[in-house]
Amino acid sequence: MTNFEFESGRLRAENVTLRYDERTISENLSIAIPDGSFTVIVGPNACGKSTLLRALSRLLSPSAGQVILDGRSISDLASKDVARCLGLLPQSAVAPEGITVADLIARGRYPHQSFFRQWSTADEEAIIDAMGATRVTDLSGRLVDELSGGQRQRVWISMVLAQETPILLLDEPTTFLDIAHQIELMDLLADLNGQGRTIVAVLHDLNHACRYASNLIAMKGGAIIAEGKPSAIVTERLVEDVFGLPSVIIQDPVSNTPLIVPRGRQTLDAAAPQVTPLDTSRRPGMEQHRD
Ligand SMILES: Nc1ncnc2c1ncn2[C@@H]1O[C@H](COP(=O)(O)OP(=O)(O)O)[C@@H](O)[C@H]1O
Ligand SMILES: [Mg+2]
Repeated sequence: MTNFEFESGRLRAENVTLRYDERTISENLSIAIPDGSFTVIVGPNACGKSTLLRALSRLLSPSAGQVILDGRSISDLASKDVARCLGLLPQSAVAPEGITVADLIARGRYPHQSFFRQWSTADEEAIIDAMGATRVTDLSGRLVDELSGGQRQRVWISMVLAQETPILLLDEPTTFLDIAHQIELMDLLADLNGQGRTIVAVLHDLNHACRYASNLIAMKGGAIIAEGKPSAIVTERLVEDVFGLPSVIIQDPVSNTPLIVPRGRQTLDAAAPQVTPLDTSRRPGMEQHRD
């Protein structure tokens, strides 16, 4: 990543230390989210992915360093200014009891309203668009508590979309979704990215990460181990380093991106077709692997 890109990003963390009470999760961490990127954060459980997203969205104040949004320390900005720029889908969002789908999604419009500017047709249109994009229009009168996990997840995403922010931060947005709905959601995020929104998502599925990310961040133990284009940074060594998982990396036949095939402890079926591992040794970008 060049310095120019680092400087030009609207959102970045500069040498942040993130802790809960006395427990330090990340120390001296710096990351710039490239404008217009589809950035995906991967890493093992409890490595600090959600903590980083919370810091980037101002839910957690760094105990050292700072998060910069549009050239200013995010801690100096008013909540509404942050919320007009940046929408967050937390990992486990809890809806107010007894709220309907339509009312929850309407809350996404809060940052756009004020004493002088109450409910408007722009709000109405944003909600209709967000509901349509996430296919929850038919659920609008239902109680959020009574939905399935997958339906509820789509409603939350709808609320964040209705907020109409240029930057979207999503913590494990595909949780609870079946495979078809996962791909549908990833395609939706790719469309939003194509329309110019910056997307930052924490994902568990490495293959989805490789397929959709323009910029991949691999974390371990609160630190960033590698960052860059998936095709430039994803190697068997990286997967082993970050997840402790032996794997073979082949080319995804649909997207031509790296496809991680875990080795596990299963013995090979002699009749199984032989895969040709992708030669990752001579690809550029390895210098971005932070040892
Ligand atoms: N509110 C909290 N208070 C104390 N510790 C926390 C809190 N939230 C997360 N942690 C701890 O911080 C570490 C990183 O958590 P998290 O960022 O949620 O990881 P990830 O999202 O990568 O799974 C974990 O050890 C977790 O137990
Ligand atoms: Mg998490």
